[in-house]
Amino acid sequence: MNQLLSILSISATAALLGACNAPPEKSAAVGEKTPYVMDPHSYARPEEAAATHLDLDIHVDMQQHRISGSATYHLKRQGGDSVIFDTDGLTIDKVTLGDGTAAAFTLGAKDSILGQALRVALPQGVDKVSITYSTGAEAKALQWLSPEQTADKKFPFLFTQGEAILTRSWIPIQDSPGIRITYNAHVTVPKELMAVMSATNPQERSADGSYSFKMDKPIPSYLIALAVGDLGFKPTGTRTGVYAEQGVVDTAAWEFADMEKMLEAAEALYGPYRWGRYDVIVLPPSFPFGGMENPRLTFATPTVIAGDRSLTALIAHEMAHSWSGNLVTNATWNDFWLNEGFTVYFEHRITEALYGKDYNDMTNVLGYQDLLGTIAEIDSGKHPDDTALHLNLAGRNPDDGMTDVAYEKGYALLRLIESKVGRPKFDAFLRGYFDHFAFRSITTDTFLVYIRKQLLEPAKVTVDMDRWIFRPGLPDDVIVPTSKNFAMVDGQLMLWAKGTPAKELAAKHWGTFEWMHFLRHLPAGQTPRQMDDLDATFHFTRSGNSEILAAWLEQCVKNDHEAAYPRLAEFLTTVGRRKFLVPLYTELVATKKGRALAMEIYAKARGNYHSVSVNTLDELLAWKGTKPPATF
Ligand code: BES
Ligand code: ZN
Repeated sequence: MNQLLSILSISATAALLGACNAPPEKSAAVGEKTPYVMDPHSYARPEEAAATHLDLDIHVDMQQHRISGSATYHLKRQGGDSVIFDTDGLTIDKVTLGDGTAAAFTLGAKDSILGQALRVALPQGVDKVSITYSTGAEAKALQWLSPEQTADKKFPFLFTQGEAILTRSWIPIQDSPGIRITYNAHVTVPKELMAVMSATNPQERSADGSYSFKMDKPIPSYLIALAVGDLGFKPTGTRTGVYAEQGVVDTAAWEFADMEKMLEAAEALYGPYRWGRYDVIVLPPSFPFGGMENPRLTFATPTVIAGDRSLTALIAHEMAHSWSGNLVTNATWNDFWLNEGFTVYFEHRITEALYGKDYNDMTNVLGYQDLLGTIAEIDSGKHPDDTALHLNLAGRNPDDGMTDVAYEKGYALLRLIESKVGRPKFDAFLRGYFDHFAFRSITTDTFLVYIRKQLLEPAKVTVDMDRWIFRPGLPDDVIVPTSKNFAMVDGQLMLWAKGTPAKELAAKHWGTFEWMHFLRHLPAGQTPRQMDDLDATFHFTRSGNSEILAAWLEQCVKNDHEAAYPRLAEFLTTVGRRKFLVPLYTELVATKKGRALAMEIYAKARGNYHSVSVNTLDELLAWKGTKPPATF
């Protein structure tokens, strides 16, 4: 796209072109140069100088909304006379070399997606640099929350979100998933707050607000994460536990009581958990995702707390990333399906082990419905090729191409392969895959070579991998999932369509998934009386289950059920989870009246959202400024 073209056209970044000539990925023999893959979303040139370890020493200023300090890197040099880092909105105060002398550095032109390249000149033999810096006011990874935006309303809160390319907005870094580093961090925060990271973590507050962290396994930059708040901790097992604001810890620990069992189920499937502890931190509701698989410490939305443990598959998903994603990582964002498709498959295997087949049949169908919806949407948009598993995101914000396709089409491919070779062979293959590529970042091509040799050829099965991976759309041999629970729901939907009153529907024993299926399939054009009847009988508007509430609110907008609008406005101003926001705002803007309401709500809510959600919604709503356009 034009952004990339414009940076390519400036002479100072001719170096970028060098990266395009990087050798194709293969495993390095001893003494050979480590090969790296060209990543269109990073300025780094790891084939010349790659970071191997980071020592981070930072202070978090909760009042000024600024992180400042130093990032010291150990480098592996393989040629060239400089090292390049990614930065976005950072102020670079100085750069020194291993011996403390000042280094010459330059900042390249600003790109709205990639940020700026920081190039540091390296004399021969130097393999250590230290960058003193501070973050900018609009750092995209960071969300600074006032006490009012937290659950307990007493203290401010900060969290980071690195994936996909946001880490560069709070640490100068080689921000490519193909480059792995270990890290140590020293972080100071106000002494009434606690800091946690994707590393070894404290379980209690320190006396002076000073914390030290260690991540001794090599991880990609997008998995470096930090949260600061008035946190408490509660164990849920010997290796697992929950962090949350003090007032939320107990509820969260109850909801996630199965974590230890999930971890055991995961290990029984695909081998030992290699990261030591597995904890979850429940963040304030503005967290833009359901969960983020930061190693040793999954970041999670509080909307996963339903009060009945029915939404905890999300924890199984993030935990599964400890193998698919964190151990074996997509080398570029074009290979994102390697992270998410495998993780959805693994997630389903964990939940099947814990909750059984009926449960999984339902989540399979819901996922398949999501996939069909997403494909239809992409097909009518600007990038119809985004329904291929392997993406071409060069020149685009990688976030824009990260859709349900990677998750659900990726999952569908793995299920197809599983059905062809049989579970025992597929499980043995996956276990071997995680072992073979442990702590490495791989491309789709590397995966393809491996699976053909290790599984498809020996098992003598044919799957048109190229069709599935490199071509858009859903191939005909997809396995269409079904669920007997949902067949029962469909029966009740028929009765409802024929005019049966809500109280006569056989819905007594329905759980969250049945309700989601029911609400997704309400016939179009519900009358005000029907909407009132549903709500009076099932109390959706006051549901504490975010999935049920979001599905209901979507129907309320579609059917103009105004009685629920105060709840809709409240939901949209407190919850920042993009997956819920996008469908609701999309439905709202479909009508003139709804559009006015959307703009009114967004004007109030925008300040409560993380940049990831703001970025998507500004575009969806054609947002032009801090005030609603004059026509409203
Ligand atoms: N790694 C993703 C979140 C993500 C994706 C962040 C792309 C940035 C860019 C995480 O594992 C995830 O998939 N979360 C899902 C929940 C899951 C149960 C499907 C989410 O946030 O909804
Ligand atoms: Zn995921």
